[in-house]
Amino acid sequence: RQPLKVALLGCGSVGSEVARLMTTHADDLAARIGAPVELAGVAVRRAGRSRPGIPDELLTTDAKALVKRGDIDVVIELIGGIEPARTLITTAFEHGASVVTGNKALLAEDGPALYEAADRHGVDLYYEAAVAGAIPLVRPLRESLAGDKVNRVLGILNGTTNFILDKMDSSGAGYSEALDEATALGYAEADPTADVEGYDAAAKAAILAGIAFHTRVRLDDVHREGITEITAADMASAQRMGCTVKLLAICERAADGRSVTARVHPAMIPLTHPLASVREAYNAVFVEASAAGQLMFYGPGAGGSPTASAVLGDLVAVCRHKLKGGNGPGESAYTQLPVGPMGDV
Ligand code: HSE
Repeated sequence: RQPLKVALLGCGSVGSEVARLMTTHADDLAARIGAPVELAGVAVRRAGRSRPGIPDELLTTDAKALVKRGDIDVVIELIGGIEPARTLITTAFEHGASVVTGNKALLAEDGPALYEAADRHGVDLYYEAAVAGAIPLVRPLRESLAGDKVNRVLGILNGTTNFILDKMDSSGAGYSEALDEATALGYAEADPTADVEGYDAAAKAAILAGIAFHTRVRLDDVHREGITEITAADMASAQRMGCTVKLLAICERAADGRSVTARVHPAMIPLTHPLASVREAYNAVFVEASAAGQLMFYGPGAGGSPTASAVLGDLVAVCRHKLKGGNGPGESAYTQLPVGPMGDV
């Protein structure tokens, strides 16, 4: 079999781990896919720096030329942000490539248009890495539960804020002190706004609500409140009531079934609730479905290696489709259930 050619866009902590695993797991990947996969090019932001394990001749700063080459089977987009990622992904579709991405910001802003574009070109768009790192959530919701009716998705979708709240809960630290520790340990970014103000969790909630309820939910549709106002006194009073505080994402189908809502905000939860025991930077998600009942997904929601695991799983899936024909679930699976009024928050 001819190798399937893969272009990697972005070589940060996730991208470099994807490249490493494509080499070290090459035999296993080839066996599972039915053909070898070959890294055909790696687009990086800055030239002149070697990347361990990646031959220099594969490196390029011209991502656009790489996706336009015409011989690429799969593009793995790990640049993040809206542009140039959106143009690169649509250009990849136009040139017949399927796309695997971890780009939650783009999918929360423009997912449905991209799913539609992938459908139109008869290629796949897979994005397990966009929500909760290694935890399988996208495909369980999109595929395993497609015959059921999901009514609620409830969870901790941001590791940084969970780390901060856990630190405040376990040590009595104030918000700033806990944030400093999260920054020192590399959980929080230098600018932690996206995490602590709830934007990251809201983007993930928009993606999950869209696939759970087979509809379109955008970041702007998600009611959002971060954790910056939570004080040590708030945490202490939650504790006195046998509770702790978590930043929750809550996506629900309205009782009349005619609309859906999605929101992210801090919530007091009883210590007896399984989400109360989610510590440090872990993520966990409850899914309630009519026939399946309650399901819980738990694991590392960020980090190079866990997120690379999700990317490689998607790579195997889309490569199998490339070889055997057919595509994963696409735009045709979507209805137009509206995002309804929020009601009580
Ligand atoms: N900043 C995110 C988090 C990383 O803390 O969960 C994964 O999206």
